Amino acid sequence: MTVQLYARDVGTGTPLVLLHAFPLSSAMWLEQRQGLANRFRVITPDLRGFGGSRLGTDEPSVDAMADDVAHLFRRLGLQRAVVGGLSMGGYVAMALCRRHPDLVLGVVLASTRAAADTPGVRENRLRQADVIDRDGTVQVLLDEMLPGLVGPTTYRQRALVYGRVRGLVQATPAPAAAWAQRAMAARPESFETLRGLKVPALVMVGDEDTLATEDEARAMADALPNAELLVIPRAGHLCAVEQPDLFNQAVAEFAAAAARTTR
Ligand code: MLT
Repeated sequence: MTVQLYARDVGTGTPLVLLHAFPLSSAMWLEQRQGLANRFRVITPDLRGFGGSRLGTDEPSVDAMADDVAHLFRRLGLQRAVVGGLSMGGYVAMALCRRHPDLVLGVVLASTRAAADTPGVRENRLRQADVIDRDGTVQVLLDEMLPGLVGPTTYRQRALVYGRVRGLVQATPAPAAAWAQRAMAARPESFETLRGLKVPALVMVGDEDTLATEDEARAMADALPNAELLVIPRAGHLCAVEQPDLFNQAVAEFAAAAARTTR
């Protein structure tokens, strides 16, 4: 059963749907709502369980998250949109391309990967999900994941940005975090989906990202029939939060071109 997603919806123009990273919420897209709403209709949902959205009762899967987003399109009367996802949001964007390709005008894949988890990564996710369930808090993510979410430049020079990210992680409901870790652990690889994509794509990665690497971004861009790759300097995993101006400029140019060519 799909969950009705809470979504922030600002601006007018070509719709741009942005899907957030784990373990954050649509609050991470603050600078994108501010910087892009003068040219686009910027829609930033909270994926199920996060922010203002209920978790629902489905088994964990990124497909369920993608179906929620498709349902949101129908509810908002959107026929097609440029869909962008960062990291977990990218996994959901790729599932949307697989399950609901007609909704996608162009796709932005930031700090994400098309491969499925390695056994070690999967095991670690499932362990963290169990710890979250046991503790009833996301402390394990603050300890083990938060330090890798931003790059060294942000960590050393932009304490306010790091503090904001920490606040967003702390605000994540424990049941959503455990559910999403299990959903990501179960996700399939998406290279076949990327190879079959009919719309343009923009792949982005921060040059200081250690969670999703430049090599992984390059592999995605190589698999896509029509993609450009942008490496964002002095940014870690959360490149949209760490370098919002560069991120926004790239997305704006891409989305405007995608809207023109697929009109
Ligand atoms: C994210 O930022 O969404 C996570 O790093 C995704 C993941 O754990 O693979």
